[in-house]
Amino acid sequence: MEIVIVGSGGREYSMGLALQNECRIDGIYFYPGNGATHKLGKNIDFKTQKDFVDFALTQRIGLVIIGPEAPLVEGLADALRENGIPTFGPSAKAARLEGSKAYMKEFAKRYDIPTAGFIQTQDYNEACAFIEELNLPIVVKADGLCAGKGVIIAQSYEEAKSAAKEMLDGKSFGDSGKTIVIEEFLDGFELSVFAMCDGKDFIILPAAQDHKRLLDNDKGPNTGGMGAYAPAPLATKEIIEEVKNTIIIPTLDGMAKDGNPFSGTLFCGIMVVKGKPYLLEFNVRFGDPECEVLMPLFEEGLFDCFLACANGNLKNIQYRIANKVCVGVVVASKDYPYKNSKKEKIKLSSERNAESHISFAGVSKEGESLVASGGRVLVCVGKGENVQEAVKEAYKCVEFVQFDGMQYRKDIAYQALGK
Ligand code: AMP
Ligand code: GLY
Repeated sequence: MEIVIVGSGGREYSMGLALQNECRIDGIYFYPGNGATHKLGKNIDFKTQKDFVDFALTQRIGLVIIGPEAPLVEGLADALRENGIPTFGPSAKAARLEGSKAYMKEFAKRYDIPTAGFIQTQDYNEACAFIEELNLPIVVKADGLCAGKGVIIAQSYEEAKSAAKEMLDGKSFGDSGKTIVIEEFLDGFELSVFAMCDGKDFIILPAAQDHKRLLDNDKGPNTGGMGAYAPAPLATKEIIEEVKNTIIIPTLDGMAKDGNPFSGTLFCGIMVVKGKPYLLEFNVRFGDPECEVLMPLFEEGLFDCFLACANGNLKNIQYRIANKVCVGVVVASKDYPYKNSKKEKIKLSSERNAESHISFAGVSKEGESLVASGGRVLVCVGKGENVQEAVKEAYKCVEFVQFDGMQYRKDIAYQALGK
């Protein structure tokens, strides 16, 4: 069959790379893909959602995997499924778990899912009253999608109130901030737990850790993620079991009960406080760069898992995850995340190691050259028997990459290395 992967990042590249040798796949389309995905398949583009659905029908596409959140929130999975096209990714209604923080928090409250105490409001005075009840720091969140930027950790009451005001006035995040969530600060360590779901059943993948800040030692501004590794040794069997029982199962049950069964990737952003996991946020897709370190851990059955989630028959699927570690180092362009950078030609050394590879993201093709077109350009992924080995392979891979202004963190996986 032919499949389509929707998206253009390193996440989508890594899915294509992991699926390219699957014998049941005759071809992979990337919609729209990037300057490197055409090596794994064919890039396609459409003006409207309807044009894409028509293409999928005419081409008899056997599976569409939707990578990013925006098309999910906009209902792409619904449009495809209404036309009988097997689709990996939640409906627009189920995607509200990511698309609206207020919805997610109310849902968690209704189903007794552990999460930070909160209120959601559109009223400044109500916001201020709740802010004064909390200890510092205080977390203020815009309700809607803000490309990962809608969360303020305020260190004073004044800062919390002014963040709330700017959001409510539509100054900081437009309509996304017209409703806000104010919540208590949870102090612990963060984990990302991914479950591939078919609406009722699920499989849990190795827990990952992202590195959100731009610079070493978690300094500098927040980014989309500068590196990741999996499995994270901090995620003990007990913690994962508790995430499963107190967060994932109640969520899938609750969504089904509410008439919005969840299929696709449930990405649970967790804060572990004194050994107990709390839900910080849900995303309804794989993380980027987390996906780039999870896909290579599948030794068998990845395609079956995607397809079974789309078809609602995950229960008896066989799959195998390697007993290995993957580390991904993001290489970004010079001015990331502040502004767009000038395009730069990428030089790649041909002598690459078998235990590492590159997932391409912000790249375009100009003639025969591969060009860094800004943002997070690529992810160097190393695999090893343990974290030390995987880190070594990932950084060896970085040495094969050269373009002007390239920047990357030197300390990816430091928590796992016990530093
Ligand atoms: P979110 O998009 O809701 O995951 O928030 C982005 C980041 O803000 C998280 O990855 C955490 O680092 C931080 N954060 C969000 N909510 C809280 C909270 N209640 N307590 C502590 N940190 C938080
Ligand atoms: N790396 C975090 C995210 O994809 O949301």
